[in-house]
Amino acid sequence: MYRTHNNGQLRSGDIGTTVTLSGWVQKIRDKGFMVWVDLRDRYGITQLIFDEERTPKEMMETASGLGREFVIQVRGEVIERESKNPNLPTGDVEILVREITVLNSSLTPPFTIEDDTDGGEDLRMKYRYLDIRRSPVRSNLVFRHKVTMAVRNYLSGKDFVEVETPYLIKSTPEGARDFVVPSRMNEGQFYALPQSPQTFKQLLMVGGMDKYFQIVKCFRDEDLRADRQPEFTQIDCEMAFVEQEDVLNTFEGLTKHLLKEINGVTIDSFPRMTYDEAMRRYGNDKPDIRFGMEFGELNEVAQHKDFKVFNSAELVVGIAVPNGNNYSRKEIDKLIDWVKRPQVGALGMVYVRCNDDGTYKSSVDKFYDQEDLAAWAEATGANAGDLICVLSGDAAKTRAQLSALRMELAEQMGLRKPDEFAPLWVVDFPLLEWDEETERYHAMHHPFTSPKPGQMELLKSDPGAVKANAYDLVLNGNEIGGGSIRIHDKEIQSKMFDYLGFTPEEAKAQFGFLMDAFQYGAPPHGGIAFGLDRLVAILGGQETIRDFIAFPKNNAGRDVMIDAPAPIDHEQLDELHLQLNLKS
Ligand code: AMO
Repeated sequence: MYRTHNNGQLRSGDIGTTVTLSGWVQKIRDKGFMVWVDLRDRYGITQLIFDEERTPKEMMETASGLGREFVIQVRGEVIERESKNPNLPTGDVEILVREITVLNSSLTPPFTIEDDTDGGEDLRMKYRYLDIRRSPVRSNLVFRHKVTMAVRNYLSGKDFVEVETPYLIKSTPEGARDFVVPSRMNEGQFYALPQSPQTFKQLLMVGGMDKYFQIVKCFRDEDLRADRQPEFTQIDCEMAFVEQEDVLNTFEGLTKHLLKEINGVTIDSFPRMTYDEAMRRYGNDKPDIRFGMEFGELNEVAQHKDFKVFNSAELVVGIAVPNGNNYSRKEIDKLIDWVKRPQVGALGMVYVRCNDDGTYKSSVDKFYDQEDLAAWAEATGANAGDLICVLSGDAAKTRAQLSALRMELAEQMGLRKPDEFAPLWVVDFPLLEWDEETERYHAMHHPFTSPKPGQMELLKSDPGAVKANAYDLVLNGNEIGGGSIRIHDKEIQSKMFDYLGFTPEEAKAQFGFLMDAFQYGAPPHGGIAFGLDRLVAILGGQETIRDFIAFPKNNAGRDVMIDAPAPIDHEQLDELHLQLNLKS
């Protein structure tokens, strides 16, 4: 038997017993006459002691010869520690070792296996198995397991059935590029890895499964960010015979359950905000509502003077930064530089200091008087002591820029508190989104989303105004889930494809199976998918999903540990009927 206990288990009540422990050598302190070893496993650390008086010489030598990360097994007596360590659950005891077996040696690890390691990101990714030995990474994975179990139990308890859907499929249009897999048996043909199981879950509804969920890998070939990975996991869900209200209630229930179970937080009911309102108040369809700094639109009170920049702008909009009048000129200049960075893209920023005596001092005093500035303060909700930051230009771009500034300021001011949770539903998304590149409308969510009742007609006259039965669940400024009520009528689905620029032949080739299925009694249905990685990270008080994935990809989409992607040899290419014709 390798062990009778784990390394996080023994307490003073165990003093006097003989135990067997196994694990990794975390630390060795060798005083010559006495050697202490910290033995570590997933559960904790237990201190081992070898001393000249009580330990045979040979064993003293073995102990001295141990290195970091050696795997050992020991048998010994639990004794009371002379100097106790209140920071360790096992800190009252130590093991007087009677037998030791070195199960495996280890090279010196390339970084320290400590909570605060000296290893950089790249090195830790290359040796991810060593990184996983560190407790911050390990506990994130255990945390993820806890969340996943809570999800499975909750949904299963509500009659949802977990059904697996295939990974080798045909492209589903979720807006990103597909990863493709060549088929050996079908020359010149390719599978696509699913961007989501969207069409399959709809077919499960046609198949009468009624309530489906799946914790499932999805694959999207898109640019990576802290909250995006090329392969990520969804909690994918679908329900038959439901309206939007039913879906929102069901998954608000799941989210509340998780917040309670995992974080001990009770939230009565989630606020709802339309997409238009979210854009107007926060410039963002995933607003972080843990803090204020709401947008104040200033067109009416800023376009009546000779300031050309504002007069020619589609939108003039500002936010009041609490106590921002404390900022020095230098600090404000830094903010201006920040919004002018290419990633944000503003041309400049106008600001107004709200003095404690009720007067204002702005960067555009040449054009605006105290009365004007008082109106700006009113519109942005600024109080004495605040700073008003104003941006202007194209409405959509300006909103995005001011939203970025709002989030940056909140971050700087410590307003994005990781242990505070502010969920909300954003509803009534537009059905379509204009794409500058292709100069046409695309489905904002996906082409299976149904327009709001009675809006199909608007498609021709004012496509951008058509609203969909689509919703996102937002938590602390992150989109953690999105879904919609689907089209379940063949005619409407064909019209939608037609509208989105698919020829009838293309629609049939890509989605014929779905439209065929709709002819055999498709029930009304709808659903949602949560990004599990994001959900777990946010519940864990963080935003970088990489830290909650055992073996993530780096920002270039590479797995630096296994060194993938990698070329394949000629035989494999031949078998797949492929010939490489690289452009560079
Ligand atoms: P959507 O595309 O909104 O909807 O995806 C659902 C959720 O998945 C998460 N997510 C990601 N997480 C990590 N890395 C990525 N690259 C990534 N892309 C998306 C987000 C997002 O909210 N089939 C529809 C759902 C439906 O309509 O039911 C879908 O996939 O948290």
